[in-house]
Amino acid sequence: MSVFNASRLLGKTVLITGASSGIGAATAILFAKGGANLILTARRADVLKTVADACTSAHKESGVQQGGRIATIQLDVSDKTQIGAFLDKIPSDLRNVDVLVNNAGFVLGVERVGDIAAADYESMFATNVFGLIAMTQLFIKDFKTRKTGHVINIGSIAGREPYAGGSIYCATKHAVNAFTAAMMRELVDTPIRVTEIQPGMVETEFSVIRFRGDKSAADKVYDGLQPLVAEDIAEEIVWAASRPPHVNLAEVFVLPVNQASATINFRGNRL
Ligand SMILES: NC(=O)c1ccc[n+]([C@@H]2O[C@H](COP(=O)([O-])OP(=O)(O)OC[C@H]3O[C@@H](n4cnc5c(N)ncnc54)[C@H](OP(=O)(O)O)[C@@H]3O)[C@@H](O)[C@H]2O)c1
Repeated sequence: MSVFNASRLLGKTVLITGASSGIGAATAILFAKGGANLILTARRADVLKTVADACTSAHKESGVQQGGRIATIQLDVSDKTQIGAFLDKIPSDLRNVDVLVNNAGFVLGVERVGDIAAADYESMFATNVFGLIAMTQLFIKDFKTRKTGHVINIGSIAGREPYAGGSIYCATKHAVNAFTAAMMRELVDTPIRVTEIQPGMVETEFSVIRFRGDKSAADKVYDGLQPLVAEDIAEEIVWAASRPPHVNLAEVFVLPVNQASATINFRGNRL
């Protein structure tokens, strides 16, 4: 934790979507260590509870007195009804959210245009784009009223550089990039901060989901190179949130050292 100014996180309330695994779970644990309170959301309530327990342990071990209040709320960000009912589910002591981390997202398949199932492209847009927009809309008015707040959107290298076999996912992450950039411009006369984190390859459940549960196909994505791990991105997210209030880390593009673009990488020996 030495790289963070943890005092800027003490007692802050952080809401994370997709907190049940990967980047979201690692981010939750790091915020808990830094003395933040957390609202953790995802569709899998049981897994979310395990992450919440890990956050509580991390907070206790850190010895930090402030923060450590953890709530879990089951939420599918692609479900408009659940989004509509969400604010009422937040415990009253956590209503003043300071940081919204829009992390929930996924990619399904590597099919080329013409072969992509409508259910797949609809669900990717429903979560990665409409879910992120809906969550942001839920909190931005409150941020404006309270003259505070930080929206941290998880984009991707796929939002900077389209690649074959990723047309829909790339389109969703380009949409996240455009939405985030436009929102930052709209909020220029406010203290509200807007950050987009753009990871390259991170080894999480991401590729297993892309290959519909085929673990060996997922493993091949990282074959011969050392990918990022969820904790690497968590550090960037918590770093962005722990800058002084006048500093806005607008974009953070994070790659494994042996990845240079979506398609250029070096697969020699693992470092
Ligand atoms: N891994 C990479 O290489 C990589 C690279 C660039 C960007 N990203 C982005 O990083 C973010 C996190 O991905 P990850 O790598 O940590 O993958 P992950 O381990 O699969 O985590 C994805 C999270 O999103 C949640 N989620 C998916 N659909 C949801 C929905 N409709 N409503 C609510 N939660 C939902 C999942 O929880 P439930 O299943 O419990 O709902 C899970 O917690 C995503 O936005 C992804 O696009 C990942």
